[in-house]
Amino acid sequence: MDNNTIVGVVGSGAMGSGIAQIAATAGHNVVLFDNSHDALQRASAGLNNIMKRLIAKGKLSEEDASAILGRITFADNMDQFGDCGIVIEAIVENIEVKKEVFKKLEWITEDDTILASNTSSLSIASIGAAVEKPERVIGIHFFNPAPLMPLVEIIPSLLTDPAITLASKELIDSWGKKTVLAKDTPGFIVNRVARPFYGEAIRMYEEGFADIATIDWAMKELGGFRMGPFELMDYIGNDVNYTVTETVFREFFYDPRYKPSFTQKRLSEAGLLGRKSGRGYYDYREGAENPNPTEDKELGENILWRILVMLINEAVDALYLNIASKEDLDLAMTKGVNYPKGLLAWADEKGIDKVLETLEKLQAEYGEDRYRPSPLLRKMNRENKTFF
Ligand code: NAI
Repeated sequence: MDNNTIVGVVGSGAMGSGIAQIAATAGHNVVLFDNSHDALQRASAGLNNIMKRLIAKGKLSEEDASAILGRITFADNMDQFGDCGIVIEAIVENIEVKKEVFKKLEWITEDDTILASNTSSLSIASIGAAVEKPERVIGIHFFNPAPLMPLVEIIPSLLTDPAITLASKELIDSWGKKTVLAKDTPGFIVNRVARPFYGEAIRMYEEGFADIATIDWAMKELGGFRMGPFELMDYIGNDVNYTVTETVFREFFYDPRYKPSFTQKRLSEAGLLGRKSGRGYYDYREGAENPNPTEDKELGENILWRILVMLINEAVDALYLNIASKEDLDLAMTKGVNYPKGLLAWADEKGIDKVLETLEKLQAEYGEDRYRPSPLLRKMNRENKTFF
């Protein structure tokens, strides 16, 4: 595939229109379809605005911007996908609706067209099951906002043809993205490994270990994370973040490590969704006052360390279970969610023995499986090895 390949995108919402923008910027002709006329119009207006902003910032010439927009066809029926070399689906996260769309795509496209899904939480195997040739179905998972986030997870299912995996990876690499290869398991890499960033922060808040402002302060000031967990949950939306947590928990057959919290469930039920609703953990309404952190270095270091060991344990366990390579695991967290360091490299730096010791203490103290150390962590410690 090269930039003569026509790229199809189904669903022109937040993700679909971002993916269309990336492909058109890379020189492809793009067919962008949505079954809602309003959504297509919003996407068209949105893309126009983005181009105007890029011109104003001096990042794009007027000529290039109009060439990019000129390469995008806003389609009102799926037949226009007939000549596409790849179609990327970014519609509502519902398996039945996705299956219907993939069945139609199989009919409309050529036999060798790659059929990709941008799903965050459904298995690629389950989507592939809808079509006669699941060999050509693959997960290509972008992050939000797609044009700005460099990471893309490539997820072959059990039945995906390795040639399709390679072609997909090469295509997305040619768009200037960093691709990582992930196994078809819940949350793929990022949405799995990142769970404790939210979960352990909420747990400490529930226990009264520290308040939200202090936890956010510690993660940013002492940990170097761009946003604190509570700020980030408010930004993502507590409804969205809660749903991901609950889905991952269920999909992992209720492994207590991923257990959701009542705190976030109640916020979501009460409509305290975060920035978008004006209130979440913090109050975003005009004139609202928010708590100040207790800038206690020792407390802050304890907060950071407890979240960090939980994150490291998740990354180590993902390596142990062959979800991805160690290089891809670290790349995913730095490029997909802007972590200041890869978690495995961080474990090497802090000492695997120290990470293990803390997890064992937590597990003994709480008696909960939530804190069980990965067998790989024990093995590495026994053999006195480092990840890199
Ligand atoms: P969205 O709600 O902004 O857009 C979805 C679009 O799909 C809507 O415009 C809707 O009209 C359209 N649509 C629904 N059913 C359709 C059908 N049968 N045929 C054609 N169009 C249809 O959703 P968003 O956020 O863009 O998410 C899309 C997909 O990307 C989901 O699978 C989601 O899990 C995934 N994703 C979302 C991320 C996010 O942060 N929003 C990040 C990564 C993946």
